[in-house]
Formats: sequence, C-alpha cells, structure tokens
Amino acid sequence: MRDVGEGSKGIRSLDSNKRLSAGLFPEKMIPYSRQHVDIKDVIEIQSVLYENFLTGGPKVAEFEDAITGFCGAKYAVAFSSGTAALHAAYLTAEMKNHEVLTTPLTFVATANAMLYVGATPKFVDIETGSLCTHPLDYREHENQMVVPVHYAGRPLDLEPIESRFIIEDACHALGAVGRAGRVGNCAYSEMTVFSFHPTKVITTGEGGMVTTNSKEHQRRLIEIRNHGRFEGTTAQSLGYNYRLSDIHAALGVSQMRKLDLFLAQRSALSKRYRDRLGRKFFTMEPEWPEEWREFLRGTVSPQEEYPGHAYHLFVVRVPPDARDGLREHLAERGIGTQIHYPLVYHLPHFEHGDHCCPVAEETVKCLISLPLYPKLPEEVVDDVCKEMYLYLHDTWFRETEMISGAPSDLYSR
Ligand SMILES: Cc1ncc(COP(=O)(O)O)c(C=O)c1O
Repeated sequence: MRDVGEGSKGIRSLDSNKRLSAGLFPEKMIPYSRQHVDIKDVIEIQSVLYENFLTGGPKVAEFEDAITGFCGAKYAVAFSSGTAALHAAYLTAEMKNHEVLTTPLTFVATANAMLYVGATPKFVDIETGSLCTHPLDYREHENQMVVPVHYAGRPLDLEPIESRFIIEDACHALGAVGRAGRVGNCAYSEMTVFSFHPTKVITTGEGGMVTTNSKEHQRRLIEIRNHGRFEGTTAQSLGYNYRLSDIHAALGVSQMRKLDLFLAQRSALSKRYRDRLGRKFFTMEPEWPEEWREFLRGTVSPQEEYPGHAYHLFVVRVPPDARDGLREHLAERGIGTQIHYPLVYHLPHFEHGDHCCPVAEETVKCLISLPLYPKLPEEVVDDVCKEMYLYLHDTWFRETEMISGAPSDLYSR
C-alpha cells in the first residue's frame, strides 16, 4: 500500500488519475487522519511479546504512570477503548437515572455510554466559535452531572461549572493545556477520559484511559475493568473485561515518548492551514457579497491560534450548500475529509427525545475536517488549500453567481 503519509510528492502527483475517487481507490486517498508508528514502537511491542505477560503485566502500569506523569493527575486506569473508559467512568459516577448535560456535537460514544448505564443525555447547544457547549451554558441548567467535550482538542475552561460532578470527555485532547493546566489533571473534574484510537493524538490501536485524583474512583475503575476484581480478589461487584493488553500498552508507552513532537507537528500544520485559508483565501475577496464575506470571516475560527490546543482535528466551515460538492471535489483529487459529527440526537436511537440545539443544527451543516496528522507533508496542506480555493472560488461561487470577476492569481491554474 502506498504510504501517502510520508514522503508523498503531494496530491498533485495524483491529479493525472481523474477518476480517482474515495470509493474506487481508497488506498490512494490522503486520509483525514492517520497514526504515526515507527520502528521504536515496533521494538517496544516486540519486547513485550517475548515476556511472561501479554496482559495483566507491568506495561499497563508503565503506560498509566506515563499518563499521570504527563497530565498531573494522581491516578490513571487504562481501558481497552475510550468507550469502555467512558462506560466505567459513568458507572463509577453512579449516573443511573440521572439526566446528564453534554454537547450534541460529539462522537456518539459520549452519549451511548450514558444509555449503557441508564442515564439520559440532555444536549446543551454549542457556540459557533469554539464548536463546544460553553461551560456557562451548562450552568444555566440545574443538572448536577456534566460531561463536557474538548472538541477537536481545544481545551475548555471548566471553572464556571466547578460545583457540578464533571467527567471530561477528553478523547480529542491529550496534550491540551487550559487555564487550569494540562487537560487530564482533573483540576475541576472527578474524572477525565481519553481515547487512543488511531485517529487520536497518540494511539494504542484501540485503548482508553481514565485519570482521577480520587483513590476511591481509581479502585472502582479497576474493579469495573476486571470483572469486579481488585488486586487478586474474587469478584466484588458486576464488572467487565475492559482490560488493555500489555501489547497495546507497550505501543502507548512508546507513543507517549513522541507526544510532544506530535503536538508540535499538528500545531505547525494547523498554522499552515490557517495562514493559507484564513489570510489568503477566506478573507481576501472584496467582491464577495457582504453576507458571504461576513459568513466566511468566521470560517476558521474553530481552529484559530489557541494556546494549548491539541489539534486532534482541523475543522473548517464552508457555505453549507457547497459542502458536499467540495468534499466530492477533494475526494476526486485523492483528499479524504470527514464530518465531525452528525448531531448525536439526530441518530436513530436518540431521535425521540426532546432535543433542540439550533446553533448546532445550523453549524454542523458547514463543517468539514481536513487532513491533519503528524507526518502529513506540508505540500499536501498547500494542495488541499489550493483545491478548496479552486472549487469554492472558481466553481461554486461562480456557478451560484455569488461572484463575478477574474479568479485571483494566487491559485490560478
Ligand atoms: C469525543 C469522543 N468520545 C469518545 C470516543 C470513543 O473512543 P473509542 O473510539 O476509543 O472507543 C471518541 C472516539 O472517537 C471520541 O471522539
């Protein structure tokens, strides 16, 4: 399989194949996200394979220590996925029969795990800038339990809801730093949950983690992870097999050594996108009608330079009527994109609730996640920006008679 993630000459090299499309030649797509695994990871994994323990051994504790050392929480408990970690955190919080506040713009797992434990999600609308539910908006509601999501890796300031029982969904935000320090230090929360799915900032293949400063929570999490057993006891309560294997943990230990580098690479690529999209593209065209100029001025706001952003995703906003055509245009040129996310309450198993988040409804129609991962070549970022420009400026705005005049020489063909 051609490795488009490294050493690629850029998507220009794919242009000759005009029939390229996501469905037909997926192996040639620049994916929207991709893990970076190198020989050091392989060596770390190999070393475990020859040891006595493939699971239940010392690598899991080593990985947990790496996470507590990095985030600054007292305890960390590893799980077989972020979803398992969420489930265990919600059980630990005794969420059953509670109505729990969260955002509608998140991966379905945030809310699914509430259903697993017999809780009811209540979705609170997002704000257009951060694409998150603002902590002050959670405060408007009486509910005691809140699961804020650090969407795309942007850290939320949770101080305004300090008095609530907070479980942070930080699946996007390993490495993010907010006003209260590193996300995961649980400065204002009971627990913080991470995912190590391959699209995330580091990966263990599948994997998750809960951090906490409570010894009691830690013990309960360990019990839930291993069939209600704690340090060799027989089952004390109903639990699950949510263990992370030592093989996966070894990959996590090795990936943690590269985390600072990954964050720096993500940040630099995001800046490149911002420079090209923000300054040269979205705000440069004086002949765009006033309403579109206004609209586009906010285009890259979710990803504005933001100190402490983990840049799990690079999300931009485009005119809603142009979105599908733009995604198709990019796919034909070998550029994979994604939508993060269809609103959770529009999914079939949530649709009967009394949900209403008008800002999220409007905003989600405009969102596209562009390729972003540590080894994404810079020239691919440039090509993605160029193709967006060519489609939106040259085709879509022109066809919809939104603009007149010659295309800018910036990206002329
Ligand atoms: C916001 C959010 N929460 C939870 C999860 C679930 O994590 P996992 O896929 O590791 O189960 C994800 C993963 O995509 C996520 O993005």
